[in-house]
Amino acid sequence: MIKDLQSKILELKKKTDVCILAHSYMSEEVCEVADFVGDSYALSLKAKTAPQSTILMCGVRFMAETVKMLSPQKRVILASPEAGCPMAEQFDKEVIQQVKKLYPDYAVVAYVNTTAQLKTVADVCVTSSSAVKICKAIPQKNILFIPDINLGKYVQSQVPEKNFKLLSGGCPTHAKIEEEDFFAVKKAHPDALFLVHPECREEVVKHADFVGSTSGIMDFAEKSTAKEFIIGTENSIVQHLQYKCHDKLFYPLSKDLVCHNMRLTTLPDVYNCLLGVSGEEIVMEEELRVKAVKCIERMIELGG
Ligand code: 13P
Ligand code: SF4
Repeated sequence: MIKDLQSKILELKKKTDVCILAHSYMSEEVCEVADFVGDSYALSLKAKTAPQSTILMCGVRFMAETVKMLSPQKRVILASPEAGCPMAEQFDKEVIQQVKKLYPDYAVVAYVNTTAQLKTVADVCVTSSSAVKICKAIPQKNILFIPDINLGKYVQSQVPEKNFKLLSGGCPTHAKIEEEDFFAVKKAHPDALFLVHPECREEVVKHADFVGSTSGIMDFAEKSTAKEFIIGTENSIVQHLQYKCHDKLFYPLSKDLVCHNMRLTTLPDVYNCLLGVSGEEIVMEEELRVKAVKCIERMIELGG
């Protein structure tokens, strides 16, 4: 049944000139029909270069908005309209404007997991895979990092030459994992390497053998000669790695590492979007787009 639906999707996407972009947290069956699967940074790059006239984003809302900002001439569809990233909504633009007044000589560095409104008050955007590089590259010595305190602390530890102010936002899924969770899995699998996303808390990240984005974690595990890994990010990555590397073992850091927003998009959703009966077309006022896209363009310029 899954294969039948996938064949229909592959046929239909060609006919309708649709490029399917899938974030790494999508299910195996959705990834299999995508033109490209990757982390937030790689998806931003693809948004600019995909030749198709329509892009179907299987991920969360800020990802579809990023695509629309970078390719305003294209139709951009968010496969599951309810799929949002709670972190993106944690701060209003007005709050950040107030904080900026307190720290006028700080550059605002915004995680890409933010709304378009919030991006209008940022100097540059970053993703988990590009944040260290970009914070090093910007000329400003002082950085106001929004909204993820955990990613902010990790970047701060890697860029000691700069001054950071952090706000207390973050990913509710990654931030609920405690050091005890790591100890419990490590005790059960003492030889496993620990690969973790920087959205996890500092006391968890400090035990890592590798810290990286969703694709970074997968690349590391695939290339490593080690045989066992504890995966400190959304549990879909555990499953993808199990499919990709049959000779290796992967253990979730916690059974609670589940992003319910990322789990919303199903294979039938993708099919229904291609039929035009599901999904939401992203519409953005040009004035907002022009203001918000600047920090994403800057990210691409500095991130390479
Ligand atoms: P990546 O940039 O690593 O894909 O992260 C996106 C995300 O939402 C992680 O929770
Ligand atoms: Fe947002 Fe966290 Fe889900 Fe990533 S895992 S989309 S940061 S809620």
